[in-house]
Amino acid sequence: MFRRPRLPLCYRAALAALLAAGCAGPQSALDPAGREAHSIAGLLVWISAAFTLIWLGVVALALHAPRAKPTDERRVERRLVLGGGVAFPVLGLTGVLAVGLYGLPAILAPAPAGRLSVHVTGSQWWWRVEYRPPGGAPVVLANELRLPVGRRVNVHLQSSDVVHSFWVPALAGKMDLIPGRINLLPVEPTRPGTFRGTCAEFCGPSHARMGFVVVAEEPAAFEQWLAAQAKAARVPSQPAAVRGQQAFFAHGCNTCHTVRGTTALGTTAPDLTHVASRHTIAAGTLPATAPAFREWISSTRRIKPGAHMPAFSDLPGETLDALAAYLAQLE
Ligand code: CUA
Repeated sequence: MFRRPRLPLCYRAALAALLAAGCAGPQSALDPAGREAHSIAGLLVWISAAFTLIWLGVVALALHAPRAKPTDERRVERRLVLGGGVAFPVLGLTGVLAVGLYGLPAILAPAPAGRLSVHVTGSQWWWRVEYRPPGGAPVVLANELRLPVGRRVNVHLQSSDVVHSFWVPALAGKMDLIPGRINLLPVEPTRPGTFRGTCAEFCGPSHARMGFVVVAEEPAAFEQWLAAQAKAARVPSQPAAVRGQQAFFAHGCNTCHTVRGTTALGTTAPDLTHVASRHTIAAGTLPATAPAFREWISSTRRIKPGAHMPAFSDLPGETLDALAAYLAQLE
């Protein structure tokens, strides 16, 4: 007799562990670390429970529906269509809409005026991040945000080219960045951690290489970090880094990049003043280490198809090493 093959217990356990692992991690909406993400995760649980009940009801009906006599068929059909096809979906979906709208004002309530605000501009394919502390000078960086735990911060979102979408699933819902307008996304981390954000709207060949990192930390640590980011860039002292700085200007990197404290004031590409203090470079694509800087400079468009930065693949090896040494000390 034919028997259905059974998955061995160890495979089933591994499969269950894999499924459960998908619920946690730095980019999971099911492992919330922000006030908005908690509301959204709660809503997901309620809606999933409601639709599971409906599904069970439909399955029960399908298995145990009484057979109608041929004369009753039209009456039964009418009842099924009007009840199950019109009244029930209208009432059910209105209920879901009401639950969703009930939670919306709390999710979108902006932070009080006069607080720190963050302005994020999406560009193909990186994120310009500008902190505007009340009464202080703006601080610009790229592809990384830090936020104080327990404080609500308004993140203002805009685009310099096409539509992008800012999404940190563990912290808040997603919000589009639309050319010509500024959208507001309030974010309030509830626990410290390092989370991954991503662009959630197709925006060209390197859309999948448009990630970023969000670090939520205690307010004192956050203030310390912001003060360090506001400082000018470190002056290179090692010979290789000094040569790297000379190469940085000789090859025109300064026309697109800013390094505060030097004459590099370009604004079309990421600010590099403290680039080595970040978790990643090239918008979440590579770690911020000397070998990665070298790899990025020599193979930009292989790593990120369509990137606007030209690849400096014909530079001699020692120049690439020097440039990497210079960038790696910009902490
Ligand atoms: Cu930016 Cu997708």
